[in-house]
Amino acid sequence: MLTIGSIKLDIPIMQAPLSGYTDWAMRFLAREFGAPLTFTGVMLAKSIINPKVLRKPEFKPGMGEDVYPTGAQILGREPEFMVQAAKLLVDIGYDMIDLNFACPAPKVLRRHRGGYLLRTPERTLDIYKQVRDAIECPLTVKLRIGYGEGEQSQDNFWEIVDALAKENVDAMVIHGRTTLQKYTGKSDWSRIIEVKEKYPHIKVIGSGDIYTADDVVRRLEETKLDGILIARGAIGNPWIFTETRALIKDTPMPEPPDVQELGRVMLHYFTLLKRIYPADKAVRYFRKFASGFCKRHPVRKKSQIRIYSSRNERDFYNAIEETCGVRIDDFDNSKFDARF
Ligand SMILES: Cc1cc2nc3c(=O)[nH]c(=O)nc-3n(C[C@H](O)[C@H](O)[C@H](O)COP(=O)(O)O)c2cc1C
Repeated sequence: MLTIGSIKLDIPIMQAPLSGYTDWAMRFLAREFGAPLTFTGVMLAKSIINPKVLRKPEFKPGMGEDVYPTGAQILGREPEFMVQAAKLLVDIGYDMIDLNFACPAPKVLRRHRGGYLLRTPERTLDIYKQVRDAIECPLTVKLRIGYGEGEQSQDNFWEIVDALAKENVDAMVIHGRTTLQKYTGKSDWSRIIEVKEKYPHIKVIGSGDIYTADDVVRRLEETKLDGILIARGAIGNPWIFTETRALIKDTPMPEPPDVQELGRVMLHYFTLLKRIYPADKAVRYFRKFASGFCKRHPVRKKSQIRIYSSRNERDFYNAIEETCGVRIDDFDNSKFDARF
């Protein structure tokens, strides 16, 4: 059990914010496979305060049938935009807000947003406090273990962490790489553990290099952190949630999906994508997930290439039939049930 403010999760895992991936469809799929909490990808506060933007279907927190909590993550350096964006997102139904002080993309850093804010503790804390004062729901922060490796970076990191702990932040989600490291090297979990050891009363969620259910459980056992974020490990791999759930709850491990099941899950995911994107866009969008799904295919490379190179909706269905033996005409999405 993990409690973040008023939100209670029955297992201490969550689907990470992943820009360009965790739109409504991927979040829905993750929930169906047992993720107790999911996040949007990062959203630029200044852009989403335009009400037209938030009306797009991919920004919807849920579509009626999903009752699990969703966190909305926002990015920006101006507290007033962050406050406005947070309020709007809460108004449209998101259950919690996460502040991004972690993004390493060059264009984000150039504008002193995201991971750059680890260099400017005063501004970072100002953003946190202003958003905290403006909303009632749980408010969390996503951090990296510093801007860079130097002493100044370390001092800034601890200044931010110390102040957030003093403010009793609902949770700190920490990726064990520095901003400058981007995604290279290994995640340094020792720094995340130091935060938890220094502030046992604060919820600390760890992130970095989590690819399997075993990775999750190993980190939970080794680190005594409050929770683990599942990021790249969930792309095209919703089974990671059922498998992690089984390990944590000590229930029988589900059988790995056979090719038919794999085909059905891909078709199901495609129907979810079609609820938020036109079919052609959904086909192109699906490409990013082909490699993840096909890791579970006995003929991995060939199936991946076939699905990846689908040209349109019809061709996508042909690809699923050829690689997994599931015909779209025999697939009844309304009967699809992956609930754990
Ligand atoms: C393609 C991609 C997009 C990401 N987008 C976000 C994002 O929008 N917000 C965020 O806080 N972290 C983002 N992350 C970082 C992840 O949430 C996570 O902290 C990081 O990938 C480390 O976990 P992993 O090594 O298990 O993937 C992104 C990572 C990747 C690879």
